[in-house]
Amino acid sequence: MTAAKLTVGLIYGGKSGEHEVSLQTAFSVMNALDYGKYNAVPVYIDKQGRWNMGETHTAAPASLEALQLNGGESATAEAMSVLWRKLSGQESLIDVLFPLLHGTYGEDGTIQGLFEMMDMPYVGAGVLASSAGMDKAIMKSLFAQAGLPQCKYETFIAAEYEANAHDILGAIEHNLGFPCFVKPANLGSSVGISKAKDRAELERAIQYALRFDLKVVVEEAVDAHEVEVGVLGNELPLASVPGEIVSSSDYYDYDAKYIDGNSRMIIPAEIDSELAENLRELALRAFKAIDGNGLCRADFFVRRSDRAIMINEVNTMPGFTAYSMYPLLWRETGKSYPELLDQLIQLGLDRYNKRHTLQFKRD
Ligand SMILES: Nc1ncnc2c1ncn2[C@@H]1O[C@H](COP(=O)(O)OP(=O)(O)O)[C@@H](O)[C@H]1O
Ligand SMILES: [Mg+2]
Repeated sequence: MTAAKLTVGLIYGGKSGEHEVSLQTAFSVMNALDYGKYNAVPVYIDKQGRWNMGETHTAAPASLEALQLNGGESATAEAMSVLWRKLSGQESLIDVLFPLLHGTYGEDGTIQGLFEMMDMPYVGAGVLASSAGMDKAIMKSLFAQAGLPQCKYETFIAAEYEANAHDILGAIEHNLGFPCFVKPANLGSSVGISKAKDRAELERAIQYALRFDLKVVVEEAVDAHEVEVGVLGNELPLASVPGEIVSSSDYYDYDAKYIDGNSRMIIPAEIDSELAENLRELALRAFKAIDGNGLCRADFFVRRSDRAIMINEVNTMPGFTAYSMYPLLWRETGKSYPELLDQLIQLGLDRYNKRHTLQFKRD
């Protein structure tokens, strides 16, 4: 007897700046999925935020373009009526949801909250880890609490800056010096980030970051190797081998990430085993610190001058095509892309089943 096939709802596209990347991820995942075990239902969120649910696939799609579904005016309502079925006592068409979205409305806990309300199992981080991993200021306080080494930083909100720019600029100059990195607290893909070399550039960089968020983080610039570790699991997560990003430009900005195609990955990173072990251990601690589930990629700086390790950030939905860092780190660690998909789906189901037995009110 063969076990019943699971139907996986793949959610991709989305309103964030990473829409195209997400489409590529969906195409990659749908090509790697083992259709002996799974059916796939594509759920495409277009750039306006409208949902479009496709037919159940029992084989890989013909092309990436075929994934850009357009179900017309009523498509969102139709998709929702299928996704919310469980709450009306019907059997769900979909067994588990797999969000393949990055950035705002995908990686920040909002869609995870929607899945919770639908009572649907889903792959990856829950609401808390997603939003904590998205907000660089919150993430840094959690890391500090967990004793993880990080670079020096300052953070403030727009209203504080309007009221007291002079003191804030003074504190940055005094505590961090130049150059420094100025970032909107909530975003990704290096959008809104600038490197400031002096006071005038700092002021411009802050104004720029404030276009993207009401909260800003400023960090000392660290001259470092950028080394990343994959984490996989729920309560007892595992860490992959570390890999290094060698950026094509001064730092890993949007062009270096997505446009010029000249950045490189070195997998495994060419570092000694002690440093590698330290990074893996810190990656697991970072995963715990944000209450991670399923997967995350922990990104570190290894300072060139003294090899000091500092955590930069965690990404709860890291780049996930077959050629992205996270899957390649696991491939090097001995887990193929299809195996990774299997495990992530299983981890999502396990988490749902475990939490399902919990009470949320008194008897
Ligand atoms: N404090 C820093 N020192 C040196 N480089 C930095 C620093 N902060 C960011 N960078 C560079 O900018 C890139 C993007 O910053 P990051 O905080 O990772 O934002 P994102 O969430 O958009 O990936 C990093 O990969 C790195 O190249
Ligand atoms: Mg980053």
